[in-house]
Amino acid sequence: MSPKAIRIVLAFAAFLVGLALFLSAALLLGGRNGPQAVAAIGGPFSLTDQDGRTFTQDNLKGKPHLVFFGFTHCPDVCPTALFDMSEVLRSLGKDGDRIGAVFITVDPERDTPAVMKDYLSSFDPRLRGLTGEPAAVAAVEKAYRVYSKKVPTQDGDYTMDHTAIVYLMDKNGQFVRPFDLKRRPEEAAADLRQYF
Ligand code: NI
Repeated sequence: MSPKAIRIVLAFAAFLVGLALFLSAALLLGGRNGPQAVAAIGGPFSLTDQDGRTFTQDNLKGKPHLVFFGFTHCPDVCPTALFDMSEVLRSLGKDGDRIGAVFITVDPERDTPAVMKDYLSSFDPRLRGLTGEPAAVAAVEKAYRVYSKKVPTQDGDYTMDHTAIVYLMDKNGQFVRPFDLKRRPEEAAADLRQYF
């Protein structure tokens, strides 16, 4: 396989591992304490957005929101998800202001606020790109059960394998379910409107 094909397979494998961890966590917690324990996914955080401003869970209070983890050097999975999220926001029109959409980097070393700002200029301006100190980012990844791993490339650089779930959180910051972007933007938008 070409390096690109291998990367795609690895990214998919990472996704499956993430999904399996996520589902087993949900089942374990759900079995023991009832469905509300699934809300253990997510939680308070403090990061920096692409304009250099502090961004915390309070910025999302009162709005259903989509949370996606990735990195700006990602060749395919992240730009596709961000494009799809932008289409959903576009489809919501002005109501897009009533949801939150955040892209949290798993590669804070390279993804500074300036890099995030440049990268996100290709997408809906309402998308917030969040980065921070590696420890702060690692804590958020842990809270969302995100898997990510640095993988060296032949040219001495590196890429990141990472969980590619889009998390749907309600307006109280409780996890609802993974959000399906593989449908018409209007359908996805109607789905989100239920959580206004
Ligand atoms: Ni990616």
